Amino acid sequence: MIKLVVSNQRGGVGKTTTATTLARCFADLGKRVLLIDTDSQGSVSAVLGLKPEFSLYDFLISGIAFKMCIVDAHPRIDVLCSDRRTMEAEDVITSRMGREMTFEQAFGPHDQEYDCVIIDVAPSLTLFQTCAMMYTRQLLIPAAMDSLSAAGAASNFQAVDTINRMFKVSPPICTIGILPVIVDRRLQMTDTVLEALEGLATRESVPLLPVVRTDTQVVKAGRVKKFLADFDPKSKALEDYFKVAQVLLAGSKEIADVKVIEQPA
Ligand SMILES: Nc1ncnc2c1ncn2[C@@H]1O[C@H](COP(=O)(O)OP(=O)(O)OP(=O)(O)O)[C@@H](O)[C@H]1O
Ligand SMILES: [Mg+2]
Repeated sequence: MIKLVVSNQRGGVGKTTTATTLARCFADLGKRVLLIDTDSQGSVSAVLGLKPEFSLYDFLISGIAFKMCIVDAHPRIDVLCSDRRTMEAEDVITSRMGREMTFEQAFGPHDQEYDCVIIDVAPSLTLFQTCAMMYTRQLLIPAAMDSLSAAGAASNFQAVDTINRMFKVSPPICTIGILPVIVDRRLQMTDTVLEALEGLATRESVPLLPVVRTDTQVVKAGRVKKFLADFDPKSKALEDYFKVAQVLLAGSKEIADVKVIEQPA
C-alpha cells in the first residue's frame, strides 16, 4: 500500500494537479485509490467537477459515515472533498487531545479498502497537514520551476524535521521524492531551479523523480473539469505522471518486500 501527502509550502506549484493526476494513474494501473482533499479552497472537487453532498467536515466532525462522504470520481477512485468548513473542522479539532492523530484514527480503519491514499493539502502548514503526515508518514514534494517553489520544497524538510522531533514520530515521516513539475526546458530559469532541487535532494538523501513537462492540456483539462487522462490520453504531462506513478509503486513494493523479509518465521 502507498500513502502519501502531496505538499509544498508554496501556492500554485502543481500540488492538486499532481494529486489528482497521480490518483488517476494509480487507478489506471489497477489500484484502488482514496483521494482526500484537506485544502479549504476545495480544489480537488473544483478541478474534477465533483458535487459532494458531504465533505471532510461532515466525516470528521458530524460523524457522517465514511461511505456517505466519499464521491466516485472514477470506478477505482473515491474522493473525500473539502470546502470552507474544513477550517471550522480544524478549529474544533485543535482543542482535542491527540489532535495530530485525527487522520490516523479516522482513515486508518479504511486502509484495507485501498491500495493508494493520496492527500492534497493547502500551501500553508495547517493542523490538517500535520494530521495528514502523521497518518501517511510519507511526503511527495512537487516543485515548479521558480525559486520560491524550490524554497517551499526546502521549507517542507524543515517542517517535517520539526514534527518528527517534536512528536518523536516513529517510524518518522519521510519524503519519498521531490517531483519537478511544469518543466519547460526552453526557459533559462529551469536549469537553475533543477540544479537547486538536485542539490536539495542530495542533501536530504531523497530521490529526485522524473520531471513532469509543461503542458497546456493540463490547464484545459482543469477548465472542463476532467481528469487529464479523459481529456487528452496522449498528453505529455500524463505520460510523465505515469512514469512517476510507476517509480513510486516500484519504490513502495521494495519497502513492502523488505517488510516481508523482516517478518519473523
Ligand atoms: N504540467 C503542467 N503544465 C501546465 N500547467 C500546469 C501543469 N501542472 C499544473 N499546471 C497548472 O498550474 C496551476 C497551479 O496548479 P495547481 O492548482 O495544481 O497548484 P497547487 O499547488 O495545488 O495550488 P494551490 O497552492 O493554490 O493549492 C493550475 O492552473 C494548473 O492547471
Ligand atoms: Mg491545490
